[in-house]
Amino acid sequence: MQKQTLIGPFSQVVTMANLPLKGALKDDQLQVIPEGGILIKDTIIEAIGNFTELQEKYKTAEVIPLKGKHVCLPGFIDAHTHICFGGTRANDYAMRNAGKTYLEIAKAGGGIWGTVTQTRKATQEELTKNTIKRANRHLKNGVTTIEVKSGYGLSIAEELKMLYAIEDANNASLSDLIPTCLAAHMLPKDYEGSEEEYLEEISTQLFPLLKEKNLTNRIDAFIEESAFSKEQIAPYFKKAKDLGFDITVHADQFSTSGSQTAIDNNAVSADHLEASTEKEITLLAKSNVISIALPGASLGLGYAFTPARKILDAGGALAIASDHNPGSAPMGDLLTQAFILGAFEKLTNAEVLAGITHRAAASLNLEDRGQLAKGFLADMSVFHTNNYNEILYNQGNLKPCMVWKNGTLVYDKHK
Ligand code: NIG
Ligand code: FE
Repeated sequence: MQKQTLIGPFSQVVTMANLPLKGALKDDQLQVIPEGGILIKDTIIEAIGNFTELQEKYKTAEVIPLKGKHVCLPGFIDAHTHICFGGTRANDYAMRNAGKTYLEIAKAGGGIWGTVTQTRKATQEELTKNTIKRANRHLKNGVTTIEVKSGYGLSIAEELKMLYAIEDANNASLSDLIPTCLAAHMLPKDYEGSEEEYLEEISTQLFPLLKEKNLTNRIDAFIEESAFSKEQIAPYFKKAKDLGFDITVHADQFSTSGSQTAIDNNAVSADHLEASTEKEITLLAKSNVISIALPGASLGLGYAFTPARKILDAGGALAIASDHNPGSAPMGDLLTQAFILGAFEKLTNAEVLAGITHRAAASLNLEDRGQLAKGFLADMSVFHTNNYNEILYNQGNLKPCMVWKNGTLVYDKHK
């Protein structure tokens, strides 16, 4: 028989189980187990409940005793990042805050293209190393699953280099990295052809390679005036869906039409949505597309937050992600950003926590995580407090003291 491990007692285990995927949540909908214990077998949660009762029932389990106050939550899930990149955009940031326009910054060698240039200069090994470093920082902040996009390569060879780097980083890091191909981030400046020709080339030549080499099952596109239109992307997404890829969209960041694109293409998520109006909010709420708010991008650009309250009140599903990238969201601190969105948008703690656990898992089509319940992965973030409300009350300043990934203690502040 495999070894069983019982951890506890926790002052509270907040399971995030049995919550609806869509709509507003009240804090009293959260399942909170006082004096809780979690029984792990291998990588999976075998049982969860009162610690003393579990100890009596599973007498042979090895006990990992906890002293003092501890609150346990599922490991957090960051469903939208761009943490595989070369270089920095500190100069862009300074220029933007000094009042320079998007065009002036682009002319000075900045913007997305600035990162493409720097990422192309980096070797695959350097990209892997950078990605692992950033993923490990997220892990210490309780994030055990991180979606990572390509999109700074923008040619077949360079997109492949990024996706191989993400694969290598996933193999070498303690967290799970979920890769996404964002070759449709912008028309590369050195491409001699139209948007349509670029998208055709990527979808006919790169997509089959992604499948063959099992590099990703997700395709993303930036729908915006500066990138690709709803009409241009339609054949690209059709091709992707025909090959079995999941679709996700950078939608409604500055202008609307991305959310409609996401709905039309049955996307798993529409991310950003800072510019969404009542019309888009209503359409999204009626659909199966999960809305992902990216407060880190609003903070980086000094721009409006995603209308998260309205999305939830309309009955939509809302996840929250960091968008960690070198340009618009350099901070990369999911919990801090989720707290900020909650404070400005008046979200309940249940809505914020669901946005980085259970609802974030759904946005990545991952059914094995985001909740603490029998059969789920033993991914846990543990905080040194006796009340889960203290976590968001501390505004991102209370960091986990322990993090478990796949049943293994991967971070222990005391050590
Ligand atoms: O999600 N909106 C487009 N793409 C990224 C930003 C990328 C960059 O500026 O490098 C985003 O915010
Ligand atoms: Fe993004």
